[in-house]
Amino acid sequence: MTPRTTAKKKKATKQTAPRKKKTTAKKATKRRVATHENNAKPALYANLVVQLLSLLKGEHDFIANAANFSSLLFNSLPNVNWAGFYFLQDDELVLGPFQGNPACVRIPLGKGVCGVAAQQCETIIVPNVHEFPGHIACDVASNAEIVIPLFDGERLLGVLDLDSPTIGRFDDQDAEGLNELVTVFVAHEEGLGL
Ligand code: SME
Repeated sequence: MTPRTTAKKKKATKQTAPRKKKTTAKKATKRRVATHENNAKPALYANLVVQLLSLLKGEHDFIANAANFSSLLFNSLPNVNWAGFYFLQDDELVLGPFQGNPACVRIPLGKGVCGVAAQQCETIIVPNVHEFPGHIACDVASNAEIVIPLFDGERLLGVLDLDSPTIGRFDDQDAEGLNELVTVFVAHEEGLGL
């Protein structure tokens, strides 16, 4: 018993030792990749904040600024096929400046992803729009969506909406980055009597 156990132990130790080295090296590579990937979106959004501030600087025309903001998002974020605004008018959202295919003009509060985000006053990430009850399909290419409400203080102004053809395209980092951009945008527009 004893020699067999020892032999087994030795064998196990031998097998484990090189594996450990291999695993450690692999993990280190994975960690580097993961760190790079984890930083990619925050870095991109940080850069977009700088670009947005530059676009907004000295300009207080709300429509012009919203149009440039949607263009910045549409042209800078990968895998996005629609980016734009819906603004609250009475009890419905009305299409604002956007980039992408023509979209439905009016969305009642509580309807679609935009209407639900506006009604609940919270960011909604939809990994697969085909699984979202009541999703309003404006572009057949859209498979994922993120909607961020815009506030002037407590007052709901509308929503920022982004669509992607890639299922699961948007995550918490997008939500954080887009919320920061929207905060910068609204702060700039404050006091315009919207
Ligand atoms: N899909 C949205 C409608 C707007 S388009 O995506 C531009 C929704 O369900 O509210």
